[in-house]
Amino acid sequence: MKTIKLIFLAVFLTTISFGSLAASKTHLDHADTDIMDAASLQNGAKLFMNYCSGCHAISFMRYNRIGKDLGLSNKLITENLMFAGSKTGETITTAMPEGAASEWFGGVPPDLSLVSRSKGTDWIYTYLRSFYDDESRIFGVNNKVLVNASMPDALWSLRESQSEAEFDNSVRDITNFLDYVGEPAKLIRLQLGKWVLLFLSILFVLVYLLKKEYWKDVKYGIWRPRD
Ligand code: HEC
Repeated sequence: MKTIKLIFLAVFLTTISFGSLAASKTHLDHADTDIMDAASLQNGAKLFMNYCSGCHAISFMRYNRIGKDLGLSNKLITENLMFAGSKTGETITTAMPEGAASEWFGGVPPDLSLVSRSKGTDWIYTYLRSFYDDESRIFGVNNKVLVNASMPDALWSLRESQSEAEFDNSVRDITNFLDYVGEPAKLIRLQLGKWVLLFLSILFVLVYLLKKEYWKDVKYGIWRPRD
C-alpha cells in the first residue's frame, strides 16, 4: 500500500513540475530534424562553420571526427570546414578572444557542444528564426525566445538571400548538425540498436524454451536430487 501511495505521489509531482515548465515557455516550432540525413548534416556543418564558429566553439568535437561521421574526405574538410592553419585532429575552438567577447557582447558566446542536449532542437530551431528589429538593443535586434539576447542576428544575410522555406531548411540543417554534435555516437547507437533488439528477441525465444524445459521437470516431479 505504501509503495502505491509513493508511486501516486511521484506521478503527481512530475505532472506539477511539467505543468509549471510548460507555462513559462514561449511556443516552440517543431525542428523536425533527422540525424540520419547525411546531406542535411553536411550542409549544417558548412553553415555552422561559416556563420557561427567565428563566435561559438564546439570544443568537444574534432574536425576529423566530423569528417569520418559525415563521410567527408580530409580534402573536403580542409577546404570547406576549417580555418587556415588548423589541423584535422584539432578540436573546434573559436578565434574569438574571450576578453574582447565580453566587451563586445556583454558575455562570452557559450560553447555549443552540448546546447542541443540542454535546450533541445526545437528551442534552437525557433531561436535562430525569432530575431526581430529592436533599436534599443546594441545590435538593433532582439529575440522572442531568448529575450534581450546579446547575440546578433548571425543569419540575416542568409535570410535575405533565401526564400522562407529555404531559410527554414538551412536553420533545420544547422540544428540537425548541433543535435549530432551533442551526441555523435547517436549515429552508431541508432543503427546498432535495431540489431541489439533483434538479437534480444531471438534470445528471448531460446531462453523461454529453455525455461520451459527446466520447469517441466520441476512441475511434473521428474526432478530428483542427486544421490
Ligand atoms: C557575433 C557573435 C555570434 C555569432 C556569429 C553567433 N552567436 Fe550565438 N551567441 C552569441 C552570444 C554573445 C550569445 C549569448 C547570448 C545571451 O546569453 O544573451 C549566443 C547564444 C547562442 C545560443 C544560446 C546558447 C545558450 O545556451 O543560451 C545559441 C543556441 C546560439 N548562440 C547559436 C548560434 C548559432 C547556431 C549561430 C550561427 C548561425 C550563432 N549562434 C552565431 C554570439 C554569437
